[in-house]
Amino acid sequence: MNGLQLIATGGALPGRTITNDALSRMVDTSDAWITSRTGIRTRHWCTEDESAATLAIAAARQALDRSGLAPADIACCVCATLSAPDATPSVACQVQAALGLPENRPALDINAACSGFLYGMAVARGMLTTLGGQYALVIGCEALSRLMDPTDRSTCVLFGDGAGAAIFRLADTPFALTLGARGSDVLHAGGPSREGSAPITMDGKAVFRFAVDALPKCLHTVLDETRLTLDDLSWVVCHQANSRIIDHCIKALQADPAKFYKNMDRHGNTSAASIPVALNELAESGQLTPGRPLACIGFGGGLTWGGAILQYKE
Ligand code: ACO
Repeated sequence: MNGLQLIATGGALPGRTITNDALSRMVDTSDAWITSRTGIRTRHWCTEDESAATLAIAAARQALDRSGLAPADIACCVCATLSAPDATPSVACQVQAALGLPENRPALDINAACSGFLYGMAVARGMLTTLGGQYALVIGCEALSRLMDPTDRSTCVLFGDGAGAAIFRLADTPFALTLGARGSDVLHAGGPSREGSAPITMDGKAVFRFAVDALPKCLHTVLDETRLTLDDLSWVVCHQANSRIIDHCIKALQADPAKFYKNMDRHGNTSAASIPVALNELAESGQLTPGRPLACIGFGGGLTWGGAILQYKE
């Protein structure tokens, strides 16, 4: 048994909804510009009381409740984020405490930007196979509104906050995972060692070129490894950076657009949270078919990328 099977999901979104029209009152932009360039119409930003950690706890609690498992069944907790409110305690440790997960199990945060959830799956799978246990809790959570310059129209229109959580089981169902990285500053967000404030900056065109190259390559790699075709998949759940990136790949792959889930119109780009938030929406709306494989593809800052094929339930 060396694959991961998705058995339950949860999600949490902040209370504040920011429309494109609201942004156009803050910076020199318009609903027409944002919608046509990105497909984004609204996004959620944290209120003062909310953070990547509060969202992660809510999403994780929902996933655990829905799984029917007890906290003691969870063998590890991995949280992918680049916007944790604290360096320590990590978000994963805050989730451990809030959910009462057993103390003799690992809990840690990882940062692989928008590919973080895929990296989190790899870390969780590694821990299950080396330390033992059957179930892993993997979370993607972000409060990117805390890292943005709200006066920079080239970035502040793109990002949103949110969290998604998944419970995986070590299983023999179809599974493949590919990850990669290439150090580059084309997408940058400052950390505590930088002097002054260093909000997110981005060479949008370079990121676009990178994304449309990485996405189909990741998909082909995991399809080849599992000997599946696009037709076998119920969904391709890509990182929700930008509608045009996904459309570009659908065209290049001559794929059925209906297979590629999109929700950036409602959430914007939520980095590590975007894939688990999408999985949770699909599960909640009954659109994940038990027993059928699906693909998840991430790409983002680092630069990092990753792809996975996994099965939902059964
Ligand atoms: N509203 C109005 N005008 C804007 C805005 C805005 N919000 N932002 C930029 N502009 C202006 C620019 O100033 C520029 O004006 P100029 O021609 O007078 O100089 C013009 O629009 C074109 O700017 P570009 O940056 O060239 O716009 P582009 O067409 O490349 O679109 C975008 C920008 C949407 C970011 C695009 O490059 C893109 O899709 N990049 C992909 C990157 C991405 O999605 N990043 C998300 C995060 S990274 C990740 O998740 C992997």
